[in-house]
Order: sequence, then C-alpha cells, then structure tokens
Amino acid sequence: MKSLWMDETEIQDFPMLMQDITVDVAVVGGGMAGILTAYLLKEQGVHVAVLEADRIGGGQTGKTTAKITSQHGVIYQKLLSKHGREAAEKYSLENQKAIDRYEKIVQDRQIACGFVRCPAYLYTLEAPELLKEEAECAAGLSIEASFTKETELPFQVAGAVRFENQARFHPLLFLEAAARDLAVYEHSRVLQAEGDRLVTENGSVRAKKIVFACHYPFLNMPGYYFMRMHQERSYVVGLEQVPELEGMYLGVDREQAWSFRSAGEYLLFGGGGHRTGENRTGGKYELLRRKAAEFYPGSRVRYQWSAQDCMPMDQIPYIGRFSAETPDWYAATGFGKWGMSSSMAAAGMITESILEEEDDGKVFGIFSPQRFTPRASAGNFCKDSVHAVKDLSRRIFTPGRSDLEELPVGHGGIVEYDGEKVGAYRDEEGEIYLVSAKCPHLGCQLEWNPDEKCFECPCHGSRFDHMGHCVDGPAQTGIALTQEEDSH
Ligand code: FES
Repeated sequence: MKSLWMDETEIQDFPMLMQDITVDVAVVGGGMAGILTAYLLKEQGVHVAVLEADRIGGGQTGKTTAKITSQHGVIYQKLLSKHGREAAEKYSLENQKAIDRYEKIVQDRQIACGFVRCPAYLYTLEAPELLKEEAECAAGLSIEASFTKETELPFQVAGAVRFENQARFHPLLFLEAAARDLAVYEHSRVLQAEGDRLVTENGSVRAKKIVFACHYPFLNMPGYYFMRMHQERSYVVGLEQVPELEGMYLGVDREQAWSFRSAGEYLLFGGGGHRTGENRTGGKYELLRRKAAEFYPGSRVRYQWSAQDCMPMDQIPYIGRFSAETPDWYAATGFGKWGMSSSMAAAGMITESILEEEDDGKVFGIFSPQRFTPRASAGNFCKDSVHAVKDLSRRIFTPGRSDLEELPVGHGGIVEYDGEKVGAYRDEEGEIYLVSAKCPHLGCQLEWNPDEKCFECPCHGSRFDHMGHCVDGPAQTGIALTQEEDSH
C-alpha cells in the first residue's frame, strides 16, 4: 500500500539522461539528502546534476514519518561518554541547524508542506532515570530539553524527555518544490563509477565532485559500507478518527517503543522494527492494528506501509569523504531512523566542504566515515560481520524449511525444490513463482517477510519482490531464475 505522502503527492517527471554531460558536482540519489545537497549547491551557483535510478522521492523519503528533530533516541549521554563534549556538541548543532534550514527554505520558497514547529518526546514506561539523564545531557548541549511526566499519549508514562522547537512536515510536498528547478535525471541508474565519471545506461556524467546520497552505497569497495551498517525495517499505520497530537513521540523501552505523530487528519502510529530479513513469522501490521484499537478505540486504519533504514554501528551517520582513496567523492548514509534531519545536516556539511574546502575535521567532525576503517577498527566490525558470516554459512548448511506443496495460498518462503533451496510464493490464484534463494549482493540466504510479501537479506538488507525484482539495495540485480529453472 502507498504511504500517506505518496498518496497525496504528484511529483513532476524528470527526463532520463540520454547524453554525456559535464557538471561541477554530480549527486547520486534523488531522495531528500540528494535533492537538498543539489539545492544548497545550486543556491551558491554550482552546476550540479542529480542522477536517480527510479523516481525522486520514491525510496525512503516517501516512507519516513518525517519528524525533523535533533532528538535521535537516547543518544546524547552516549555521545558524551564515548566521544566527548566536542563530538556531542557537533552532533546536536548540525541537527538543530537542520531544522532551521528546513524552515528557511519553506519560508523562502513559500512551500505549502505543512511545516510546523512542535515538541518531540522520548517516553518510557520503565526507566525514567535514563530519560532524566538524557534531558540533562541534551540541556547541557544547548538543546531546550526537559524531563516531564506530562504527555498527550493514551497511557501514563513513567517519564519523558521533551525537546522544544522541533518540527514536522509533509516530506514529498517539500521535496517536490525543492527539486523543481534542479537538473534531475530520473530512471538513470548509475552502473559504473570511476574517478570523475558516472556511467548510466544511456549517458554519462563527468564531475569534479561526486556525492553518493543513495540510501545504501551500492559500491562494495572502496568504502566498505556493507561492513559498517545493516538495515532495519519498521512499520506504520495511518489512523483516522483520532485526536490530533501537538507533539511527536517515540518510546525507548524494548517492548513499548511506539512512535506517534499527527499528520493532518491522520495519526501515524508506528513500531515493530526488526533487522531486515528477520521477520519470518510476520504479524507486524496486525500488532499495530491491535495496539491502535487499544489506544484509540473507534480509530480506523486508512494507510499502512513500512520503511527501511541504514543503521550505522555507533548510531552516528556517515557523512564526509567516501573513502581515503577517493578524495573527490562524498558519502551521505547511515541515517538510522532520522533521515530528515540527517539529510539536511549532510547536505549542509557536504556543501560547505565543496565550496569552502575547509579541513574535514572541522566540517564533518564525528560524522566523518573515516572514523572507522576496515583495518584500524577491525573489532568494531565484529557484530555485523559475524551476522553476515553466519548468514553466508547458512546458505550452505540450512535445509529448506518446507516443501513447495505445503505452501498455502498467499504465502511464500524458502523451500526445497528438485533438491535445491529456492524462494517460492503461491499467489491468491494458486500460481507459484520461484526465485533464487541467494542474495546477488554477497550470497547470503534470503528470508521471506510475510508482512511485505517479499524476500529479504539478513546480511545487508537487500529486498526482492516475489517476482525477483530488486526493490532495495545494496544488491543491484534481481533474483529471477533462468527460464529453464523457472517452473512458472
Ligand atoms: Fe549483502 Fe545480501 S545484501 S549479501
């Protein structure tokens, strides 16, 4: 089902790249980070082009809950204790600045995207001390933060930390207006990146600087981003006939980590997050519907959708030089659940670096991807690498879990077929679709996600529909079987 934002927005078509062009800066990815980077650069007179593999705003920008906030879960106490005051200040400053920058663009361009300032809350039913400390740490970093037990939620909380003057908006209405005057090429997937050149199917771009703002970098090397982050999915329902909330809310407890945020006449109610590829039993939307009925009796579900986020190992996005070997390439990825503020922070810092050629430490600070390198920080890679290795070995040793004949209508899974493990889906008419069970990115065994009816990779989060088309990277190709192997 379409998200509320996608349902309400008509975005103009942009042409496909059909020639070889030369620009100052090429941006790969037409989501919020890419469009904002191009927007800020163009404002300064830079000749910039955006290459988008599909449609702009068609990825996670159309599926976010669109909270613009410097409140990114419980983070400031961790930043202070692990990285020190300077790093924590940089983090809070860039994200606070991001809110102001959105407001300025909305005002300058008179964009009717429902941008409103509002408070943001983290709440707990169990651990008020944790949030008291978070409020104190944030307040010490010049954020207007306080601890409270008063919220608009339909249950009593043990405590909450409230940030003043945060914001929410309609992300696609904003994106559509911001992109209007930019040189954007849609349906122009980058197939090759080398030096100052990007190659698409029907054209190429030469650029002095290249910014990779495409959610998950599709190049394995350089950069090794697949070793530094995994992806997670989370689910949201759009409720009608509910009270409007002034604030935006997120739970921090393991079991009650619900997200609440009003959007016009709807309330976006979310939760049920999991590592991509680890939702074999499903039921995420059902759970949200059940909890929604409990919290708001009489409410009705009008929308439901899910989103995918890149999760860095230390909760801090990767914004800065793509790798030590590619000084003219930039990366903007690993935004966690906080894509809107991180997109603007990334656009601001990368623009500053390109225009002013300032020292990287000053511009990017704690955000720099160079804070990890595969060799120097081997220990830090363990958690995700172990997961990846486990899944790579599973593709060799784990048998299929069921036979094709046992697959009920409307269900999919990994099954044994002719002695091989394959992905299978039986549609409502009983027709069976078979695809490869092996992820084309680095070979992990895929898992079926019954809520989304797709195959997902637990290693780095690539996703494929039941026909085998790739719907989320880092994989760049699908998993359709060859004609001979395909019984369909
Ligand atoms: Fe990397 Fe599947 S996404 S192996």
